Amino acid sequence: MSETQFDLVIRNARVATASDTFMSDIGIRDGVIEQLGRNLGEGKKEIDAAGRTVTPGGVDGHCHLDQPMPPPARMSDNFDTGTRSAACGGTTTVIPFAVQEKGQSLQSAVDDYHQRAAGRAHVDYAFHLIVSDPTPDVLTRELPKLIAQGYSSFKIYMTYDDLKLNDGEILDVLDTAKKNNALVMVHAENADCIEWLTKRLEAAGHTAPRFHSHSRPMLVEREATHRAIALSELIDVPILIVHVSGREAVEQIRWARGHGLNIFAETCPQYLFLSAEDLGGDHDYAGAKCVCSPPPRDKGNQEVIWNALTEGLFTVFSSDHAAFNYGGTDGKHPEGEEVGFRYIPNGIPGLETRMPLLYSEGVLKGRITVNKFVELTSTNAAKAYGLHPRKGTVAIGADADLVIWDEREITIQNTMLHHATDYTPYEGIALKAWPGMTLSAGQIVWDGENFFPRSGQGRFLQCDAPSLLPKK
Ligand code: URP
Ligand code: ZN
Ligand code: ZN
Repeated sequence: MSETQFDLVIRNARVATASDTFMSDIGIRDGVIEQLGRNLGEGKKEIDAAGRTVTPGGVDGHCHLDQPMPPPARMSDNFDTGTRSAACGGTTTVIPFAVQEKGQSLQSAVDDYHQRAAGRAHVDYAFHLIVSDPTPDVLTRELPKLIAQGYSSFKIYMTYDDLKLNDGEILDVLDTAKKNNALVMVHAENADCIEWLTKRLEAAGHTAPRFHSHSRPMLVEREATHRAIALSELIDVPILIVHVSGREAVEQIRWARGHGLNIFAETCPQYLFLSAEDLGGDHDYAGAKCVCSPPPRDKGNQEVIWNALTEGLFTVFSSDHAAFNYGGTDGKHPEGEEVGFRYIPNGIPGLETRMPLLYSEGVLKGRITVNKFVELTSTNAAKAYGLHPRKGTVAIGADADLVIWDEREITIQNTMLHHATDYTPYEGIALKAWPGMTLSAGQIVWDGENFFPRSGQGRFLQCDAPSLLPKK
Protein backbone atom coordinates (compact mmCIF):
# COMPACT_ATOMS: atom_id res chain seq x y z
CA MET A 1 0.00 0.00 0.00
CA SER A 2 1.44 3.38 -0.97
CA GLU A 3 2.05 5.98 1.75
CA THR A 4 -0.08 8.49 -0.10
CA GLN A 5 -3.12 6.31 -0.49
CA PHE A 6 -6.31 7.93 0.78
CA ASP A 7 -8.80 6.06 2.91
CA LEU A 8 -11.48 7.20 0.49
CA VAL A 9 -11.62 9.15 -2.74
CA ILE A 10 -14.88 10.60 -4.05
CA ARG A 11 -14.39 11.17 -7.76
CA ASN A 12 -16.14 13.48 -10.23
CA ALA A 13 -17.92 15.53 -7.62
CA ARG A 14 -19.63 18.81 -8.43
CA VAL A 15 -18.63 20.37 -5.13
CA ALA A 16 -20.80 23.23 -3.90
CA THR A 17 -19.73 25.42 -1.00
CA ALA A 18 -21.31 28.64 0.24
CA SER A 19 -19.17 30.57 -2.23
CA ASP A 20 -18.17 28.31 -5.16
CA THR A 21 -19.14 25.39 -7.34
CA PHE A 22 -16.35 23.37 -8.96
CA MET A 23 -15.57 19.89 -10.28
CA SER A 24 -13.16 17.99 -8.06
CA ASP A 25 -12.15 14.69 -6.55
CA ILE A 26 -12.15 14.63 -2.75
CA GLY A 27 -9.34 12.77 -1.00
CA ILE A 28 -10.13 11.74 2.58
CA ARG A 29 -7.88 10.38 5.28
CA ASP A 30 -8.59 9.84 8.99
CA GLY A 31 -12.03 11.39 8.62
CA VAL A 32 -10.69 14.67 7.26
CA ILE A 33 -10.57 16.15 3.74
CA GLU A 34 -6.89 15.95 2.81
CA GLN A 35 -6.91 16.96 -0.82
CA LEU A 36 -9.16 18.48 -3.46
CA GLY A 37 -8.29 18.37 -7.14
CA ARG A 38 -8.55 16.47 -10.40
CA ASN A 39 -7.12 12.98 -10.87
CA LEU A 40 -6.21 12.41 -7.23
CA GLY A 41 -4.26 9.27 -6.34
CA GLU A 42 -5.91 6.04 -5.32
CA GLY A 43 -8.12 5.49 -2.33
CA LYS A 44 -8.55 2.24 -0.43
CA LYS A 45 -12.16 2.83 -1.26
CA GLU A 46 -13.52 4.89 -4.13
CA ILE A 47 -16.93 6.39 -4.84
CA ASP A 48 -17.89 7.83 -8.22
CA ALA A 49 -20.13 10.84 -7.69
CA ALA A 50 -20.61 10.89 -11.49
CA GLY A 51 -21.04 14.66 -11.63
CA ARG A 52 -23.63 14.78 -8.89
CA THR A 53 -23.66 17.74 -6.51
CA VAL A 54 -21.71 17.26 -3.29
CA THR A 55 -22.33 19.68 -0.42
CA PRO A 56 -21.02 19.90 3.12
CA GLY A 57 -23.11 17.88 5.55
CA GLY A 58 -25.85 19.91 7.12
CA VAL A 59 -25.38 21.64 10.45
CA ASP A 60 -28.75 21.78 12.18
CA GLY A 61 -28.27 24.65 14.60
CA HIS A 62 -31.65 24.26 16.26
CA CYS A 63 -33.13 20.92 17.26
CA HIS A 64 -34.35 19.38 20.50
CA LEU A 65 -33.38 15.81 21.39
CA ASP A 66 -34.27 14.00 24.59
CA GLN A 67 -34.83 17.33 26.31
CA PRO A 68 -36.30 16.87 29.81
CA MET A 69 -40.00 17.79 29.76
CA PRO A 70 -42.67 18.21 32.42
CA PRO A 71 -44.56 14.87 32.64
CA PRO A 72 -46.34 13.26 30.96
CA ALA A 73 -44.66 14.82 27.90
CA ARG A 74 -41.60 13.04 26.52
CA MET A 75 -39.72 13.85 23.34
CA SER A 76 -39.90 10.95 20.93
CA ASP A 77 -36.34 11.35 19.61
CA ASN A 78 -33.15 10.91 21.56
CA PHE A 79 -29.51 11.13 20.47
CA ASP A 80 -29.73 7.71 18.81
CA THR A 81 -32.89 8.13 16.76
CA GLY A 82 -32.44 11.87 16.24
CA THR A 83 -28.92 11.64 14.84
CA ARG A 84 -29.93 8.58 12.77
CA SER A 85 -32.72 10.59 11.21
CA ALA A 86 -30.44 13.61 10.76
CA ALA A 87 -27.84 11.53 8.90
CA CYS A 88 -30.39 10.00 6.53
CA GLY A 89 -31.52 13.53 5.64
CA GLY A 90 -28.01 14.86 5.03
CA THR A 91 -27.31 16.49 8.40
CA THR A 92 -23.99 15.57 9.98
CA THR A 93 -23.85 17.97 12.93
CA VAL A 94 -26.68 18.65 15.35
CA ILE A 95 -26.82 21.30 18.06
CA PRO A 96 -29.59 20.55 20.56
CA PHE A 97 -30.11 22.28 23.89
CA ALA A 98 -28.97 21.57 27.45
CA VAL A 99 -31.84 23.18 29.32
CA GLN A 100 -31.48 24.77 32.75
CA GLU A 101 -34.56 24.35 34.90
CA LYS A 102 -35.27 27.26 37.22
CA GLY A 103 -33.22 26.67 40.38
CA GLN A 104 -30.82 24.31 38.62
CA SER A 105 -27.17 25.08 37.95
CA LEU A 106 -26.13 25.26 34.32
CA GLN A 107 -23.35 22.78 35.00
CA SER A 108 -25.76 20.12 36.21
CA ALA A 109 -27.94 20.68 33.11
CA VAL A 110 -24.85 20.19 30.93
CA ASP A 111 -23.73 17.09 32.87
CA ASP A 112 -27.18 15.55 32.55
CA TYR A 113 -27.29 16.27 28.84
CA HIS A 114 -23.89 14.68 28.24
CA GLN A 115 -25.20 11.52 29.87
CA ARG A 116 -28.18 11.53 27.54
CA ALA A 117 -25.87 11.81 24.52
CA ALA A 118 -23.08 9.48 25.63
CA GLY A 119 -22.60 6.45 23.39
CA ARG A 120 -25.66 7.17 21.27
CA ALA A 121 -24.87 9.72 18.57
CA HIS A 122 -24.26 8.63 14.97
CA VAL A 123 -23.04 12.07 13.88
CA ASP A 124 -21.19 14.86 15.67
CA TYR A 125 -22.97 17.17 18.08
CA ALA A 126 -22.50 20.28 20.16
CA PHE A 127 -24.75 21.83 22.80
CA HIS A 128 -26.45 25.18 23.10
CA LEU A 129 -27.51 26.13 26.60
CA ILE A 130 -31.01 27.30 27.55
CA VAL A 131 -30.70 29.90 30.31
CA SER A 132 -33.92 30.09 32.33
CA ASP A 133 -32.52 31.27 35.67
CA PRO A 134 -29.86 33.96 35.24
CA THR A 135 -28.82 34.31 38.87
CA PRO A 136 -25.72 36.36 39.72
CA ASP A 137 -23.75 33.09 40.01
CA VAL A 138 -24.95 31.95 36.58
CA LEU A 139 -24.10 35.30 35.00
CA THR A 140 -20.73 35.93 36.56
CA ARG A 141 -19.30 32.44 37.09
CA GLU A 142 -21.13 29.60 35.37
CA LEU A 143 -21.78 31.16 31.98
CA PRO A 144 -18.26 32.60 31.48
CA LYS A 145 -16.78 29.24 32.49
CA LEU A 146 -19.03 27.21 30.21
CA ILE A 147 -18.51 29.59 27.27
CA ALA A 148 -14.75 29.12 27.66
CA GLN A 149 -15.30 25.35 27.74
CA GLY A 150 -17.06 25.27 24.37
CA TYR A 151 -20.70 26.19 25.00
CA SER A 152 -20.66 29.52 23.21
CA SER A 153 -24.34 29.98 22.39
CA PHE A 154 -27.46 30.03 24.50
CA LYS A 155 -31.15 30.40 23.95
CA ILE A 156 -33.45 32.56 26.01
CA TYR A 157 -37.23 32.60 25.96
CA MET A 158 -39.67 35.48 26.11
CA THR A 159 -42.54 33.02 26.58
CA TYR A 160 -43.34 29.70 28.36
CA ASP A 161 -43.83 30.12 32.12
CA ASP A 162 -41.06 27.71 33.10
CA LEU A 163 -38.46 29.31 30.81
CA LYS A 164 -39.30 32.97 30.16
CA LEU A 165 -37.09 35.87 31.21
CA ASN A 166 -38.21 39.43 31.86
CA ASP A 167 -36.56 42.36 30.08
CA GLY A 168 -34.11 43.04 32.92
CA GLU A 169 -33.01 39.40 32.93
CA ILE A 170 -32.63 39.47 29.16
CA LEU A 171 -30.40 42.54 29.44
CA ASP A 172 -28.26 40.73 32.03
CA VAL A 173 -27.83 37.72 29.74
CA LEU A 174 -27.03 39.90 26.72
CA ASP A 175 -24.46 41.79 28.75
CA THR A 176 -22.78 38.54 29.77
CA ALA A 177 -22.79 37.36 26.15
CA LYS A 178 -21.15 40.59 25.05
CA LYS A 179 -18.43 40.39 27.70
CA ASN A 180 -17.67 36.76 26.86
CA ASN A 181 -18.11 36.77 23.09
CA ALA A 182 -21.07 34.39 22.98
CA LEU A 183 -24.20 34.38 20.83
CA VAL A 184 -27.70 34.64 22.30
CA MET A 185 -30.61 33.04 20.44
CA VAL A 186 -34.00 34.54 21.25
CA HIS A 187 -37.44 32.92 21.18
CA ALA A 188 -39.51 36.04 20.57
CA GLU A 189 -43.19 35.82 21.53
CA ASN A 190 -45.00 38.02 24.06
CA ALA A 191 -45.95 35.74 26.98
CA ASP A 192 -48.58 37.99 28.58
CA CYS A 193 -50.47 38.52 25.31
CA ILE A 194 -50.48 34.75 24.69
CA GLU A 195 -51.83 34.03 28.18
CA TRP A 196 -54.51 36.71 27.87
CA LEU A 197 -55.63 35.47 24.46
CA THR A 198 -55.55 31.83 25.61
CA LYS A 199 -57.83 32.53 28.55
CA ARG A 200 -60.25 34.40 26.31
CA LEU A 201 -60.33 31.55 23.78
CA GLU A 202 -60.85 28.99 26.55
CA ALA A 203 -63.70 31.02 28.02
CA ALA A 204 -65.39 30.93 24.61
CA GLY A 205 -64.87 27.14 24.37
CA HIS A 206 -62.31 27.48 21.60
CA THR A 207 -59.81 24.82 22.62
CA ALA A 208 -59.27 22.80 19.41
CA PRO A 209 -55.67 22.64 18.13
CA ARG A 210 -56.35 25.27 15.49
CA PHE A 211 -56.90 27.90 18.19
CA HIS A 212 -53.23 27.54 19.14
CA SER A 213 -52.49 29.87 16.23
CA HIS A 214 -55.20 32.31 17.39
CA SER A 215 -53.50 32.53 20.77
CA ARG A 216 -50.17 33.41 19.11
CA PRO A 217 -50.97 35.78 16.24
CA MET A 218 -48.19 37.49 14.27
CA LEU A 219 -48.56 40.55 16.47
CA VAL A 220 -47.21 38.76 19.55
CA GLU A 221 -44.15 37.66 17.57
CA ARG A 222 -43.74 41.14 16.08
CA GLU A 223 -43.86 42.88 19.46
CA ALA A 224 -41.36 40.51 21.08
CA THR A 225 -39.07 40.64 18.04
CA HIS A 226 -39.08 44.43 18.21
CA ARG A 227 -38.35 44.33 21.95
CA ALA A 228 -35.52 41.81 21.52
CA ILE A 229 -33.99 44.04 18.85
CA ALA A 230 -34.24 47.07 21.15
CA LEU A 231 -32.64 45.19 24.05
CA SER A 232 -29.80 44.01 21.80
CA GLU A 233 -29.31 47.59 20.58
CA LEU A 234 -29.19 48.85 24.17
CA ILE A 235 -26.37 46.46 25.06
CA ASP A 236 -24.82 46.73 21.58
CA VAL A 237 -24.52 42.98 21.11
CA PRO A 238 -25.70 40.85 18.18
CA ILE A 239 -28.54 38.37 18.70
CA LEU A 240 -30.04 35.61 16.57
CA ILE A 241 -33.83 35.51 16.50
CA VAL A 242 -34.90 31.90 16.10
CA HIS A 243 -37.79 30.32 14.21
CA VAL A 244 -39.04 33.53 12.61
CA SER A 245 -42.46 32.67 11.25
CA GLY A 246 -44.36 35.72 10.11
CA ARG A 247 -44.21 38.71 7.83
CA GLU A 248 -44.54 41.12 10.74
CA ALA A 249 -41.42 39.79 12.47
CA VAL A 250 -39.65 39.82 9.10
CA GLU A 251 -40.43 43.53 8.81
CA GLN A 252 -38.88 44.18 12.22
CA ILE A 253 -35.70 42.36 11.26
CA ARG A 254 -35.52 44.21 7.95
CA TRP A 255 -35.94 47.49 9.85
CA ALA A 256 -33.15 46.56 12.29
CA ARG A 257 -30.78 45.60 9.47
CA GLY A 258 -31.62 48.84 7.68
CA HIS A 259 -30.53 50.70 10.80
CA GLY A 260 -27.20 48.91 10.84
CA LEU A 261 -28.02 46.64 13.78
CA ASN A 262 -26.41 43.21 13.99
CA ILE A 263 -29.55 41.11 14.06
CA PHE A 264 -29.32 37.57 12.74
CA ALA A 265 -32.40 35.49 12.01
CA GLU A 266 -33.39 31.87 11.53
CA THR A 267 -36.38 30.34 9.84
CA CYS A 268 -37.53 26.74 9.55
CA PRO A 269 -39.29 24.44 7.04
CA GLN A 270 -42.66 24.71 8.81
CA TYR A 271 -42.96 28.35 7.78
CA LEU A 272 -42.36 27.50 4.11
CA PHE A 273 -44.37 24.29 3.84
CA LEU A 274 -47.11 24.39 6.49
CA SER A 275 -49.90 26.88 7.10
CA ALA A 276 -52.58 27.57 9.72
CA GLU A 277 -54.88 25.29 7.67
CA ASP A 278 -52.75 22.34 8.78
CA LEU A 279 -53.91 22.95 12.35
CA GLY A 280 -57.31 21.60 11.25
CA GLY A 281 -60.91 22.59 11.86
CA ASP A 282 -62.99 23.23 14.96
CA HIS A 283 -63.47 19.51 15.69
CA ASP A 284 -60.29 18.12 14.20
CA TYR A 285 -57.63 16.97 16.64
CA ALA A 286 -55.15 15.84 13.95
CA GLY A 287 -54.07 19.46 13.73
CA ALA A 288 -52.17 18.78 16.97
CA LYS A 289 -49.49 17.25 14.72
CA CYS A 290 -48.63 20.76 13.53
CA VAL A 291 -48.84 22.57 16.85
CA CYS A 292 -45.55 24.40 17.27
CA SER A 293 -44.54 27.85 18.36
CA PRO A 294 -44.59 30.23 16.67
CA PRO A 295 -47.39 28.58 14.68
CA PRO A 296 -47.51 28.26 10.89
CA ARG A 297 -49.23 31.32 9.38
CA ASP A 298 -51.57 31.93 6.43
CA LYS A 299 -50.61 30.54 3.03
CA GLY A 300 -49.60 33.96 1.67
CA ASN A 301 -47.06 34.24 4.44
CA GLN A 302 -45.11 31.28 3.00
CA GLU A 303 -44.10 33.42 0.02
CA VAL A 304 -42.97 36.20 2.36
CA ILE A 305 -40.61 33.76 4.10
CA TRP A 306 -39.36 32.42 0.74
CA ASN A 307 -38.66 35.97 -0.44
CA ALA A 308 -36.86 36.80 2.80
CA LEU A 309 -34.69 33.68 2.33
CA THR A 310 -33.87 34.70 -1.22
CA GLU A 311 -33.02 38.28 -0.31
CA GLY A 312 -30.62 37.19 2.44
CA LEU A 313 -32.63 38.25 5.46
CA PHE A 314 -32.19 34.85 7.08
CA THR A 315 -28.80 33.68 8.26
CA VAL A 316 -29.71 30.07 9.05
CA PHE A 317 -32.34 27.50 8.13
CA SER A 318 -32.87 25.01 10.96
CA SER A 319 -35.38 22.28 11.67
CA ASP A 320 -36.47 23.18 15.23
CA HIS A 321 -37.07 19.43 15.46
CA ALA A 322 -39.00 19.05 18.73
CA ALA A 323 -40.80 15.79 18.19
CA PHE A 324 -43.62 14.18 20.15
CA ASN A 325 -45.62 11.16 19.12
CA TYR A 326 -49.19 11.75 18.00
CA GLY A 327 -50.38 8.43 19.43
CA GLY A 328 -49.67 7.07 22.91
CA THR A 329 -49.80 8.92 26.18
CA ASP A 330 -46.68 11.08 26.33
CA GLY A 331 -47.01 13.19 23.21
CA LYS A 332 -49.77 15.08 21.46
CA HIS A 333 -52.36 13.09 23.48
CA PRO A 334 -51.22 13.69 27.09
CA GLU A 335 -52.34 10.67 29.19
CA GLY A 336 -53.99 9.41 26.01
CA GLU A 337 -56.50 12.26 25.89
CA GLU A 338 -57.47 14.90 23.36
CA VAL A 339 -56.69 18.06 25.29
CA GLY A 340 -57.16 21.79 24.88
CA PHE A 341 -54.51 23.47 22.74
CA ARG A 342 -52.80 24.94 25.81
CA TYR A 343 -51.83 21.43 26.93
CA ILE A 344 -50.57 20.07 23.60
CA PRO A 345 -46.75 19.75 23.68
CA ASN A 346 -45.32 22.31 21.28
CA GLY A 347 -43.08 21.13 18.47
CA ILE A 348 -42.88 19.02 15.34
CA PRO A 349 -40.36 16.62 13.78
CA GLY A 350 -38.17 17.82 10.90
CA LEU A 351 -34.52 16.80 11.21
CA GLU A 352 -34.56 14.42 8.25
CA THR A 353 -36.71 16.48 5.91
CA ARG A 354 -35.05 19.91 6.43
CA MET A 355 -32.32 19.61 3.78
CA PRO A 356 -34.27 17.70 1.09
CA LEU A 357 -37.22 20.12 1.33
CA LEU A 358 -34.99 23.14 0.75
CA TYR A 359 -32.84 21.46 -1.90
CA SER A 360 -35.83 20.32 -3.89
CA GLU A 361 -38.15 23.29 -3.51
CA GLY A 362 -35.47 25.97 -3.18
CA VAL A 363 -32.52 24.95 -5.37
CA LEU A 364 -34.23 22.79 -8.01
CA LYS A 365 -37.12 25.23 -8.40
CA GLY A 366 -34.64 28.07 -8.94
CA ARG A 367 -35.57 30.09 -5.86
CA ILE A 368 -32.07 29.95 -4.37
CA THR A 369 -28.67 28.92 -5.69
CA VAL A 370 -27.03 25.77 -4.44
CA ASN A 371 -24.43 28.02 -2.78
CA LYS A 372 -27.14 29.87 -0.87
CA PHE A 373 -28.53 26.47 0.13
CA VAL A 374 -25.15 25.49 1.58
CA GLU A 375 -24.84 28.80 3.40
CA LEU A 376 -28.30 28.46 4.98
CA THR A 377 -28.22 24.79 5.90
CA SER A 378 -24.60 24.39 6.92
CA THR A 379 -21.97 27.13 6.66
CA ASN A 380 -23.67 29.93 8.54
CA ALA A 381 -24.73 27.71 11.43
CA ALA A 382 -21.14 26.44 11.66
CA LYS A 383 -19.92 30.05 11.77
CA ALA A 384 -22.60 31.32 14.16
CA TYR A 385 -21.92 28.54 16.63
CA GLY A 386 -18.15 28.47 16.43
CA LEU A 387 -17.63 25.26 14.43
CA HIS A 388 -16.30 26.70 11.17
CA PRO A 389 -14.15 25.75 9.23
CA ARG A 390 -14.07 22.27 10.77
CA LYS A 391 -17.76 22.06 9.88
CA GLY A 392 -19.88 23.76 7.23
CA THR A 393 -17.58 23.63 4.23
CA VAL A 394 -15.76 21.38 1.78
CA ALA A 395 -12.13 22.39 2.26
CA ILE A 396 -8.76 20.88 2.99
CA GLY A 397 -8.62 20.21 6.73
CA ALA A 398 -12.39 20.20 7.22
CA ASP A 399 -14.12 17.10 8.55
CA ALA A 400 -15.21 14.81 5.73
CA ASP A 401 -18.91 15.37 6.41
CA LEU A 402 -20.47 15.31 2.96
CA VAL A 403 -23.72 14.77 1.12
CA ILE A 404 -24.00 13.46 -2.44
CA TRP A 405 -27.35 14.59 -3.80
CA ASP A 406 -29.58 12.36 -5.92
CA GLU A 407 -32.01 14.26 -8.08
CA ARG A 408 -34.90 11.81 -8.15
CA GLU A 409 -38.61 11.89 -7.47
CA ILE A 410 -39.61 10.90 -3.99
CA THR A 411 -42.75 11.44 -1.94
CA ILE A 412 -42.27 12.02 1.77
CA GLN A 413 -43.87 9.30 3.87
CA ASN A 414 -43.28 8.74 7.53
CA THR A 415 -42.55 5.07 6.87
CA MET A 416 -39.35 6.00 5.01
CA LEU A 417 -38.01 8.29 7.73
CA HIS A 418 -35.63 7.22 10.48
CA HIS A 419 -36.84 9.17 13.49
CA ALA A 420 -38.80 7.48 16.27
CA THR A 421 -41.81 9.72 15.79
CA ASP A 422 -45.08 8.27 14.53
CA TYR A 423 -45.81 10.98 11.94
CA THR A 424 -44.30 13.67 9.76
CA PRO A 425 -46.15 16.93 9.09
CA TYR A 426 -44.75 16.77 5.54
CA GLU A 427 -46.50 13.49 4.61
CA GLY A 428 -47.30 13.36 0.89
CA ILE A 429 -45.09 16.25 -0.27
CA ALA A 430 -43.46 15.28 -3.58
CA LEU A 431 -39.77 16.16 -3.85
CA LYS A 432 -37.24 15.97 -6.62
CA ALA A 433 -34.15 15.27 -4.50
CA TRP A 434 -32.91 13.29 -1.54
CA PRO A 435 -29.42 12.57 -0.20
CA GLY A 436 -27.99 9.69 -2.22
CA MET A 437 -25.19 9.36 0.31
CA THR A 438 -24.20 10.97 3.60
CA LEU A 439 -20.70 10.67 5.03
CA SER A 440 -19.80 11.54 8.60
CA ALA A 441 -16.04 11.83 9.24
CA GLY A 442 -15.44 10.00 5.97
CA GLN A 443 -17.71 7.06 6.87
CA ILE A 444 -20.85 6.24 4.94
CA VAL A 445 -23.77 6.61 7.30
CA TRP A 446 -26.51 6.65 4.64
CA ASP A 447 -26.25 5.28 1.08
CA GLY A 448 -29.60 6.44 -0.24
CA GLU A 449 -31.35 3.27 0.90
CA ASN A 450 -29.65 1.99 4.01
CA PHE A 451 -28.57 3.51 7.29
CA PHE A 452 -25.21 2.39 8.66
CA PRO A 453 -25.13 2.94 12.44
CA ARG A 454 -22.19 4.71 14.03
CA SER A 455 -23.56 4.51 17.60
CA GLY A 456 -21.35 6.49 19.91
CA GLN A 457 -18.95 7.50 17.14
CA GLY A 458 -20.59 10.90 16.88
CA ARG A 459 -18.25 13.23 18.77
CA PHE A 460 -19.03 16.05 21.14
CA LEU A 461 -17.76 19.33 19.64
CA GLN A 462 -16.56 22.24 21.72
CA CYS A 463 -17.66 25.46 20.09
CA ASP A 464 -15.35 28.44 19.63
CA ALA A 465 -16.56 32.02 19.63
CA PRO A 466 -19.06 32.78 16.86
CA SER A 467 -17.24 33.80 13.69
CA LEU A 468 -20.22 35.53 12.10
CA LEU A 469 -19.89 38.32 14.63
CA PRO A 470 -17.75 41.42 14.23
CA LYS A 471 -14.41 40.85 15.95
CA LYS A 472 -13.81 42.96 19.05
O1 URP B 1 -42.88 24.60 19.26
C1 URP B 1 -41.68 24.56 19.34
N1 URP B 1 -40.93 25.28 18.54
N2 URP B 1 -41.11 23.80 20.26
C2 URP B 1 -39.75 23.69 20.49
C3 URP B 1 -39.26 24.65 21.51
C4 URP B 1 -38.92 25.97 20.91
O2 URP B 1 -39.41 26.96 21.40
O3 URP B 1 -38.15 26.04 19.98
ZN1 ZN C 1 -38.23 28.47 20.61
ZN1 ZN D 1 -36.81 25.05 19.29
